[in-house]
Amino acid sequence: MSQKMWAGRFTKEIDERVNDFNSSIKFDARMYKQDIIGSIAHATMLGECNIIEKTESESIVKGLTEILNDIESGKLKFDPNAEDIHMFVEAELTKRLGNTGKRLHTARSRNDQVALDIRMTLKDETTEIMALLKKLTQTVTNIAKKHTNTVMPSYTHLQRAQPITFAHHLMAYANMFLRDLERLKNAYDRTDKMPLGSCALAGTTYPINRQRVCDLLGFSEITQNSLDGVSDRDFLIELCSALSILMMHLSRFSEEIILWCSWEFKFIELDDSYATGSSIMPQKKNPDVTELIRGKTGRVYGDLMTLLTMMKGTPLAYNKDMQEDKEAIFDAIDTVKLCLITFNPMLATMKVSEKNMRAAAAKGFINATDCADYLVKKGMPFRDAYKITGTLVHTCIEKGCTLETLALEEYKKLSDIFDIDIYDHISLDACVMQRKSEGGPAPYCVKNQIAYIEKNINNIC
Ligand code: ARG
Repeated sequence: MSQKMWAGRFTKEIDERVNDFNSSIKFDARMYKQDIIGSIAHATMLGECNIIEKTESESIVKGLTEILNDIESGKLKFDPNAEDIHMFVEAELTKRLGNTGKRLHTARSRNDQVALDIRMTLKDETTEIMALLKKLTQTVTNIAKKHTNTVMPSYTHLQRAQPITFAHHLMAYANMFLRDLERLKNAYDRTDKMPLGSCALAGTTYPINRQRVCDLLGFSEITQNSLDGVSDRDFLIELCSALSILMMHLSRFSEEIILWCSWEFKFIELDDSYATGSSIMPQKKNPDVTELIRGKTGRVYGDLMTLLTMMKGTPLAYNKDMQEDKEAIFDAIDTVKLCLITFNPMLATMKVSEKNMRAAAAKGFINATDCADYLVKKGMPFRDAYKITGTLVHTCIEKGCTLETLALEEYKKLSDIFDIDIYDHISLDACVMQRKSEGGPAPYCVKNQIAYIEKNINNIC
């Protein structure tokens, strides 16, 4: 094992088991690019502020750039014995530059370095996730545009409630995704603060220029307190919380798709390339993708709980507990990305059965509220109209018919307000068209909702 950076203070080498236990290179190596770019900005600033010689700053920048290129071309492999990515890069630089490499860590600690690296990494990942989610939202609105007249039942308690359109239903998810985008943007903004220069926890005696590093790295501003700068992980918990809520939405959507493609509903059919078969039952076509998304939601919630619990008892400032943040947040990020990447094309290619949706809406007295509203519009108080309609539904059930097919004299037996126009009033299409309150299912209302979402997602990203 190579000698530790801190060997001077110690009389013994580290136990191999402790070395492995302590090491984070297995999972923080993925931040190599951010680590190197952060170090390049730091070295540039050190040179500009005459904290190290200009020529040394230049060779450090050159050396770091070469290390980055060598990692990307596969020439340089990560050393599994290194403690973490920060130590690995610094050791490699020193191997290549000798004494000059040893100057890089002036006015810096791994505590502010890791805070910088994780913020840079999360900014990149959040941007990627937002782009994927924007695409998914566009898929949802594109399908909605084709189905503003596709009547389907809506449900409460999974019992048929009132008629809506498939577009109206889909736009509910588009609104959830818009809020998810807003939450992600919010988490991004909170992540976009530059912590370098906090050093171990108490800043530094060197005349550093934190604003310069901030500008070089494209952060919006610097962090304001050096203790907080190295011990804050709120931004990471906020991201994981936004991801958990996003997963909850994907999971609810998945659950509905699972129901919709069952033989009992058959509202949609998944494309063969996004479904799976059974090893024993030849007739099966299973919605595994959506079930996995529903299942993976638990993982992301677990990651959030890991992060919250990890932070709750740590005194200021840095503690090694915080090394545990990476596996949890990377797992949440990778899971969400995988889910978005699979869900989007699955949704875009599914077939919608307008016929089956309409047939389901035509059953179950879904127009009963509209029947009561008919009486109310002709002057009857709502509670009386509600009661009469309840009796009508009861009559229909006894006679084995629907409100549309019940004879006018049956209606008239309960109220002489009823007339022949009741049938037009309770037709499925009329029920949908009449619901034109803002946010409602009438086609032009849903078209407004689509325009609203399209405008707002473009404003966010
Ligand atoms: N690998 C560490 C982490 O991920 C880097 C910071 C180490 N700092 C320290 N004082 N041991 O948190």
